Amino acid sequence: MADRKATLTVEGLEKSIELPVYSGAAGPDVIDVRGLGAEGLFTYDPGFMATSSCQSAITYIDGGQGVLLHRGYPIDQLAKQSDFVELCYLLLFGELPDKAQYDEFAGRITHHTMVHEQLANFFKGFRRDAHPMSILCGVVGGLAAFYHDHLDITKQEDREISAIRLIAKMPTIAAMSHKYNVGQPFVYPRNDLNYAENFLYMMFSNPCENYEINPVFAKAMDRIFMLHADHEQNASTSTVRLAGSTGANPFACISAGIAALWGPAHGGANEAVLNMLDEIGDDSEENIQRFIDKAKDKNDPFKLMGFGHRVYRNFDPRAKVMKETCDEVLAQLGKADDPQLKIAKRLEQIALEDEYFVERKLYPNVDFYSGIILKAMGIPTNMFTVIFAVSRTIGWISHWHEMLSDSYKISRPRQLYTGHTQRDYPAK
Ligand code: SDX
Repeated sequence: MADRKATLTVEGLEKSIELPVYSGAAGPDVIDVRGLGAEGLFTYDPGFMATSSCQSAITYIDGGQGVLLHRGYPIDQLAKQSDFVELCYLLLFGELPDKAQYDEFAGRITHHTMVHEQLANFFKGFRRDAHPMSILCGVVGGLAAFYHDHLDITKQEDREISAIRLIAKMPTIAAMSHKYNVGQPFVYPRNDLNYAENFLYMMFSNPCENYEINPVFAKAMDRIFMLHADHEQNASTSTVRLAGSTGANPFACISAGIAALWGPAHGGANEAVLNMLDEIGDDSEENIQRFIDKAKDKNDPFKLMGFGHRVYRNFDPRAKVMKETCDEVLAQLGKADDPQLKIAKRLEQIALEDEYFVERKLYPNVDFYSGIILKAMGIPTNMFTVIFAVSRTIGWISHWHEMLSDSYKISRPRQLYTGHTQRDYPAK
């Protein structure tokens, strides 16, 4: 793969160091720095601003152009022409399924949506008002206890059945965490419903009345699942890869990914956007400008949630589709003048004209509009990041599977040590 070399000269080192340079199918070339260790040198890149941690063929992002490809297909085409189950197949296996492959894959997922009856007991240990993400972290990690028969991660078939089980059971466990919060009985999945319909059914139906699935909600839910499915080596996916590199079982790795996603700088931002819009309260010019000024103030910890991105220095292509979906859903619900949507749109408009945001290339990201749609669908704010986790499970498990399908080493970064050099323990 190395067709070129980088030459590193370091003051104080007699000889220069030659490092291979690799070119991928697209995106920046990489310098292979693994040989630096032998020269007594480490690279230093806190926050991984310019570090490629692996090779991957799953998702490509061009942050400058606002491009997101899943196995080469643009996210806006997939979001409008495909569905979440087909996208799961594409991410996991690398190609779009034909009809027979789709039906077989969808059937396998459907027949794994139920969870072991004993798993319901896990919930009883939580307070009723536990955040559903805390429940998800615990319960998903505990799934390993039920599948010891298929946890040999060196076997392709064990990796595949674990992926199917996780894709299938995440909506069930997510809906159970909501039902536990609201004190309603858990609802079993139905095999006659598709993925998004089943999730809405398990979330909102109850034994006392017939729940009609709103097709507008089901389509919007499926699209939201698609828009959050995968995003290259983001913080939670990197967490899953690192956990997987130790040989940990897939359920433990996904639980680690859920924990990393929860942070407000990452997947927790969708919940934080709604809380921010609540705090802003009205779309008056002076009120919005006050919050824009807070976001610009270095002494104020307030950030414009749903804005900015480590990779995108242009519009997040997912945010564009999400905004269109937001307009569609709220118009169909007769809520086109939803006050929070008005605040969000005004906030976006003012921010995109403000030098601070323009200079730093801060644009709305995937989380900026998703919460408004979810709230319009009656989903409680504390479930927003849970829904992100349900969707991102396919991304996490596809990267885990990709890593384990090739040779890999345990991930073990080094450091720039700034503590005490050796000193003796004081004599008593
Ligand atoms: C997701 O990685 C992924 O792919 C993630 C994700 C995925 O699908 O997996 O896309 C999902 O996590 C989307 C991001 C959701 N998070 C938020 O919306 C939270 C608000 N955004 C910020 O916290 C921030 O933009 C990050 C965390 C998203 C990115 O942070 P970086 O890349 O470390 O950038 P930075 O914090 O260094 O910001 C650069 C400058 C700084 O100002 P200066 O020091 O240069 O003066 O921009 C400022 C920041 O203060 N800035 C913001 C801001 N985001 C960045 N200022 C105000 N409001 C913001 N939202």
